[in-house]
Amino acid sequence: MAKSLFVKKPLSLLLGEAEDSEKGLKRTLTAGNLVALGIGAIIGAGLFVRTAAAAANNAGPAVTIGFIIAGVGCALAGLCYAEFASMIPIAGSAYTYSYATMGEFIAWIIGWDLILEYALGAATVSIAWSEYLNKLLGYFNASIPYRWSHSPFEVLKDASGTVIESGIMNFPALIILILLTLLLIKGTKESAFVNGIIVVTKVAIVVLFIVFGWSFINPANHTPYIPHATTYTDVQGVPHNFGGILGILGAAGVVFFAFIGFDAVSTAAQEAKNPKKDMPLGILGSLAICTVLYILFSYVLTGVASTEDFRTAGKEASVAYAIQTYMPGFGWLAKLVTVAILAGFSSVILVMLLGQSRVFYSMSHDGLLPRAFADIHPKFRTPYKSNMILFLFVGLFAAFVPGDIAGDMTSIGTLFAFILVCAGVMIMRKTEPNAPRQFRTPLVPLVPILGIIVCGAMVFGLGWPNWSRLLVWLVIGIIIYFGYSAKHSRLRNS
Ligand code: ALA
Repeated sequence: MAKSLFVKKPLSLLLGEAEDSEKGLKRTLTAGNLVALGIGAIIGAGLFVRTAAAAANNAGPAVTIGFIIAGVGCALAGLCYAEFASMIPIAGSAYTYSYATMGEFIAWIIGWDLILEYALGAATVSIAWSEYLNKLLGYFNASIPYRWSHSPFEVLKDASGTVIESGIMNFPALIILILLTLLLIKGTKESAFVNGIIVVTKVAIVVLFIVFGWSFINPANHTPYIPHATTYTDVQGVPHNFGGILGILGAAGVVFFAFIGFDAVSTAAQEAKNPKKDMPLGILGSLAICTVLYILFSYVLTGVASTEDFRTAGKEASVAYAIQTYMPGFGWLAKLVTVAILAGFSSVILVMLLGQSRVFYSMSHDGLLPRAFADIHPKFRTPYKSNMILFLFVGLFAAFVPGDIAGDMTSIGTLFAFILVCAGVMIMRKTEPNAPRQFRTPLVPLVPILGIIVCGAMVFGLGWPNWSRLLVWLVIGIIIYFGYSAKHSRLRNS
């Protein structure tokens, strides 16, 4: 092996590759497209599904405080992301940035970790899509049987706690994944257009729910606002810290999922027309808009329906449930929300799949993954093989893993990547002090250090089942690195 495990990709080489875009991906996206891409990725299952789960399992109405903590953590990490994205405007997200700053091995770990973010994120949202599809079918007195719309690890219990049905596989989740994979193979520009329409609809229903729901807030549901610290065991038998500080940190870790995606903007850097200016705008702009909406939305949702509702009848498709049950005269809104959520989730899955295939593209280009991941379709100019392999992988999780587990694994994986990005900014200021930066993270090292602390607190809040899953994932990644990637790395073997 010619070079060390920690060989760094020179910044000049990275930028050279970015300029080489003639041969690679097309540059079609503007700043507006990027903000839309960001909101398209951000508002989704985290808000419409995980909020209720966090209220039920972790914090009751104090889930709003969880949103504030998660928003602060994302803003801090987002400021670090923006500096990197404006400095290294090429595809690959945190993976690419860390290759230039912390060397190949750490870059591999982050790239491997980003699979949790994008691929498992896509799986989580497709599982949530399946919930809302059933809600929609319910309006027509139809439904997909429980066993064909849930994973084998989920059971349906009656009021007395007796199991009445078990899941086999989540079929609708697979359907939406294959449809969107085909759309992505056809091309990013067309996908960005569809995404734009969906983003407007999605923001509109969030605003409508906040405005109309406000007068249906029942103060009893907000009392006490922060429940006393205790333990709650959910219907699958998993214990959670509920209430108190630990409950709020757990809720922050869960709803952190709702913010995931703002960094997906950076993975499209190679397709942005003017990446240096547009990347920071796209990342921070979409994050700011969503944070305000989330805090208001979760305040209204936990005021309209109770924590107990989110544990029982309102556990699935909770927003539509809350409207139908507690907002008389707004049946139309429940239906509208259901349809818009289905479309909205589709746009999130689309961006997640897009982000993942672009990370794979970069890793494959560097020789760390097989060449197939970087093969570009001769006509559509998209990494079509990567998209298809990704479908198989994401599909496996979507069909056979419960949404709660996939969602929390997505959160913890992303938080870990964010922590490394915050560290990366500090390292880069030391190792490349004079490299041009279109956007500079303010108050370094304070902002990155706070980012590490807040994201670390959320990792802590997610508890040991998630820590151990992350560890297993990282061990598998390390085995693959030494078994394949180290031997095929272009940089190490050049
Ligand atoms: N932030 C995205 C969502 O909430 C992943 O669905």
